[in-house]
Amino acid sequence: MTKLMDSCHRTINYLRISITDRCNLSCLYCTPANGVHWLPKDELLTYEEITAIAKMAAELGITRVRLTGGEPLMRTDLPDLVAGLAQMPTIRDIALTTNGILLKQYARQLKKAGLKRVNISLDTLDCAKFQRITRHDRLNDVLLGIEAARKAGLEPVKINVVAMRGVNDDEILDFARLTINDGWHVRFIELMPFVTDICLEGCAGEGSDRSQSQFIAVNEIKEKLSSLGTLEPAAYMKGNGPAKYFRLPQATGTIGFISPVSQHFCENCNRLRLTADGKLRLCLFSDDEIDLRTPLRAGITPGKLRETIIEAVKVKPSRHQLSQGAVPKKRSMSQVGG
Ligand code: 5AD
Repeated sequence: MTKLMDSCHRTINYLRISITDRCNLSCLYCTPANGVHWLPKDELLTYEEITAIAKMAAELGITRVRLTGGEPLMRTDLPDLVAGLAQMPTIRDIALTTNGILLKQYARQLKKAGLKRVNISLDTLDCAKFQRITRHDRLNDVLLGIEAARKAGLEPVKINVVAMRGVNDDEILDFARLTINDGWHVRFIELMPFVTDICLEGCAGEGSDRSQSQFIAVNEIKEKLSSLGTLEPAAYMKGNGPAKYFRLPQATGTIGFISPVSQHFCENCNRLRLTADGKLRLCLFSDDEIDLRTPLRAGITPGKLRETIIEAVKVKPSRHQLSQGAVPKKRSMSQVGG
């Protein structure tokens, strides 16, 4: 099998595929401030097109795939897509990032189709706060979804918590306690500066300026957690990414930290992203993208598609430029999929 290598000698073996920009929530840190304009359906890649790109990517050395959105379960027949990907012999890991609302309905089918595991986004355990953050009253559905995923064996089920000062920092210890007796795997993620409506109340400024006042660095989260005991590095945790895992004394679950802002991990970046409208995005924080949909619909040959992907990888940025104020502007997080 070929190996995809970028100009910084990083091996690229992980593809995140956003299959839709639609979502049944509208989280303040994820969706644009001026409302969401969902892509017309004909601009979305079809499952056949996604599968064709994934197949070529697999031939080029991609061994792990994650499906994201928007909310990927908003797209019908997702288990069919999973089953198609699962047939590719070199793809060893297929995972899903979801808000969990529809998992109760789909967890078992997804497992049967070949999905290995899920990450579920959940930033609060409080009903009223959930409604404020997501603009929907669906906390209970998410909790049922988490249960369904565990029952279906989509393990490890990881819970993604975006830490936000003045919003959910008072719940950091509550989430951490769930790793002790309830076996949750909780990951705290630093708030990333996308163009959003993050400000819940009482902060000035626009977009990324506003998100800065809610930013909490991983080190501060760790300090808060010290009241629950010493965090010991956790043994191997299945995953493809930058999270670092720890365990509280006697805990059955783990606590992960993802610090894209305070301690970037670009030198180990192994990923490519495919947007729902068929653009290859080389860095989460860079708006530079390579269009695959147009050539695909114009009947590009497999050889040319292969070459296009290889050439795209060569121009993957060496690192993000957030510290220089370069914030992605063309897409919200809901249009990239994290
Ligand atoms: N900053 C940090 N994390 C974010 N996510 C979405 N938007 C942001 C943001 N601005 C998270 C989601 C999901 C993961 C893919 O990214 O909660 O769990």
